[in-house]
Amino acid sequence: MENILKNLTIEEKLGQLTMIAPFFYIGDLKKEVFGALTELKLDEEKIFLTGSVLGIQNHKEMNLVQKTYLERSRHKIPLIFMGDVIHGAVTIMPTPLAQACSFNPKLVKKGAQESAKEAMKKGLQVTFSPMSDLVRDPRWGRVNESFGEDPYLNYVFSYATVKGYKSEGLLSCVKHFAAYGLSEAGKDYNTVDLSRLNLFSYFLSGYEGAIRAGADLVMTAFNTFEYVPATTNKYLLKDVLRKKLKFKGVTISDYDSLLQTIKHRSSLNECDAALKGITAGLDIEMASSSYMRCLKDEVKKNPELLKLIDKAVLRVLKLKEKAGLFKDPYRKKDLELNTLKALKTSYDLASESIVLLKNETLPLNKKTKISLLGKYVSEKHVLGPWSWHGDPNKTDELSKHIKAYYKNDSEVFEDYDIEAIKKSNHIVLAIGETREESGEAHSKANIDIKEHHQVLIKKLSELNIPITLVLYTGRPLVITNIVPFVNNILVHFHLGSKTSKVVSDTLYGKNNPSGRLSMTFPKHLGQVPIYYNHLSSGRPYSKTDPYTMKYIDISNEPLYEFGYGLSYSKFKYSNLEITNKEATLNNLPTIKVTVTNESNIKGKTSILLYIKDDFASIARPVKELKQFKKITLKPYESKVVEFKIRKEDLSFYNEKLKKVIEKGTFTVYIEDLFTKFSLE
Ligand code: BGC
Repeated sequence: MENILKNLTIEEKLGQLTMIAPFFYIGDLKKEVFGALTELKLDEEKIFLTGSVLGIQNHKEMNLVQKTYLERSRHKIPLIFMGDVIHGAVTIMPTPLAQACSFNPKLVKKGAQESAKEAMKKGLQVTFSPMSDLVRDPRWGRVNESFGEDPYLNYVFSYATVKGYKSEGLLSCVKHFAAYGLSEAGKDYNTVDLSRLNLFSYFLSGYEGAIRAGADLVMTAFNTFEYVPATTNKYLLKDVLRKKLKFKGVTISDYDSLLQTIKHRSSLNECDAALKGITAGLDIEMASSSYMRCLKDEVKKNPELLKLIDKAVLRVLKLKEKAGLFKDPYRKKDLELNTLKALKTSYDLASESIVLLKNETLPLNKKTKISLLGKYVSEKHVLGPWSWHGDPNKTDELSKHIKAYYKNDSEVFEDYDIEAIKKSNHIVLAIGETREESGEAHSKANIDIKEHHQVLIKKLSELNIPITLVLYTGRPLVITNIVPFVNNILVHFHLGSKTSKVVSDTLYGKNNPSGRLSMTFPKHLGQVPIYYNHLSSGRPYSKTDPYTMKYIDISNEPLYEFGYGLSYSKFKYSNLEITNKEATLNNLPTIKVTVTNESNIKGKTSILLYIKDDFASIARPVKELKQFKKITLKPYESKVVEFKIRKEDLSFYNEKLKKVIEKGTFTVYIEDLFTKFSLE
């Protein structure tokens, strides 16, 4: 690659650091260029110098773009194609927030493998996934692209996702570096402000998981960190990403985020932004061309800059080599749509991602006469945001799968006629948010379940017929008001291609739910941001002392906390044992717990192990998830589950940003059991 680099002109080098959309090479620019792209101001000659492409429809288009490009290119370095395969390309998997509810990294990896195959057949070499931004504010529209509120879960699922892509040969770009999920007031693109210690303690671990698994690129975030936009933030890109996380791959801006530094008012103009970007360590700029238009002159003023440019170009060339583009720049295979295997994986993942929040009368019996109500009874577009190539016409309606449980359709009523509803023994209400209500640029100030849904539920409850609410949503909603009026609640954060089958199989007990919430459901919007692993307070809540941490109008507790989720089986946890209560770093304890299925229904459950550092040199969270295991138990079966405490379970960043383990005592929690040990 060094030889290729040597032969490139400065214009060609800067082209390698520029990403534009495919139609620039093959489309009618006058018709198709709009928005930020009109600012590109690239003439045809420059377009054919650029190095990477954002998004592609299919392998034919990819081949056409590549061929048109290579025919006109002097150096014949192939273009690399990147795009957003977030939870599936054609076969849509559950959204990442839903996947995290499965607590099943093996399945998540399988999902990523299927997505990778389809993405590659489409013509992509890189996916802009995983989004490893830790989230705490359900008002933010993008929470469903994330793995939720827990750093460890973010680490594990980012790792599994990247491993899945990698095993199929798809390169991946973890995003958005860093802490984009903390947009103030949940408003997309808003300011993010947090301390370095907070960044290290909670927000880095998702990105770290992806990088440890071998993510090839890192995308910068739209937000600022310490008042400097992430895209031109030297501290983030050099000190944290390169030095601390030891990332060796390519950095890329988010869409237009380099030029957005002008709107942040931290870059004076385009050339200032370009200079700031390259010196901060930004390799590729997406959807803008300030490097190509400005850096040649900047190099004349400061020849040292060329070294930075060369390093960036070399990283891009190595990425292309890794993608196999120098060997074969084309995609020959046609796309096989919705392979059975991919659909099976989507089903398996969805069946473990659905969460049972309340249960009085589920599962349903095939003899139950039911009324099916709500938008999602007949909605085909259940794929969630970022499901571009998923075809809603190929998904089934919920009513189809529910009817399949009955010999005679007449037991299933599908209208709002009160008299018809009265004839049924159960109401299934499938409602929630539409797909358009979450995703990028879809933040909400009000996350209450909709007013008309509340009215409907209260009215239906007067009929004294059991009600199951199936909540389709892109984020945790405030559903406090309606919980008392329904008997059962199943929730999911958009389950993808097999949604309807999974929902109906869960209603009728063919699928026994095992999901646990990856993000807390607040009782009231005023509690947001609310997350389980917060710090202790100097005045923790006390019933008897009014001057303690609380609200005067609502309680501190969320409605359903992170990790909450029921099953049709009844699991009992007992005999929490610890091998040694006096530990040293060379002799850390093993924890054992007996889990018993006290029901006659086979089921899966995830055992979550939390640790509290009882005392440390700085304030520490009330508890933190450190390990988990998912097991299957037959009716009345018991299993002893073991966790070996690891050094990393006890370590934390101190105020000098050093990872340390301090001596003292630790409390270990599993469900409502706990034990303690001391570390010498
Ligand atoms: C989003 C990124 C995405 C990029 C490219 C941006 O608007 O923030 O997550 O990867 O567009 O599509």
